[in-house]
Amino acid sequence: MSKVSVPKISIREIDPNSIEEISLVANRMRQTLVEVLGEEKGTALYSMEWLLERVRWHLDSEQTSAKIFLIEEYSKIVGHAIARIEKDGCTSAYGYFSTIFVEPKSRNKGVANSLVLHVETWLKQMKIPKIVYNTAENHLKLIRLFERNGFKITAKDKEMVQLTKLL
Ligand SMILES: CC(C)(COP(=O)(O)OP(=O)(O)OC[C@H]1O[C@@H](n2cnc3c(N)ncnc32)[C@H](O)[C@@H]1OP(=O)(O)O)[C@@H](O)C(=O)NCCC(=O)NCCS
Repeated sequence: MSKVSVPKISIREIDPNSIEEISLVANRMRQTLVEVLGEEKGTALYSMEWLLERVRWHLDSEQTSAKIFLIEEYSKIVGHAIARIEKDGCTSAYGYFSTIFVEPKSRNKGVANSLVLHVETWLKQMKIPKIVYNTAENHLKLIRLFERNGFKITAKDKEMVQLTKLL
């Protein structure tokens, strides 16, 4: 019998026609809010309908250039990253990396790092000169992840920081 080898880690774009994948990302967006803001604030901020609509907005090429990347570990989706190309006034375009999430069981082994590298590769292919990511100033794990990948804190406002990398 021939042996089929399944790659351990692979990254692909979300299937825009898959209700399961859209729901999965919306649920994990909610889980991200809960982890960052706490259960009460995180669930009260946006309804599930709003989050589903937000995922769908990212898939509408007439409205945005966004990409939703899914990372699979042995064919199971364990994380996602969302990024889009934005215009800086009427000057140059930049990459806006809006969120990243990895399932708790798959953390601390470089899964998020692979997603960061993947988003960067996509933006480089698109000839985009800069990526930014905004996060809470106390989200040290996230800040370390981006700093390891060459991002620097370039702005602070209230309790938020902006991480930037020039490509
Ligand atoms: C932040 C988040 C995406 C990180 O995902 P992750 O896959 O665990 O990230 P990595 O594995 O690349 O890095 C995490 C740690 O594992 C370490 N690591 C990476 N590969 C490793 C390996 N092979 N062996 C041991 N440690 C390893 C990294 O050095 C890092 O250590 P640090 O936290 O002390 O800096 C994840 O915790 C998450 O989804 N959090 C909730 C959602 C969230 O907060 N999103 C951001 C909103 S702004």
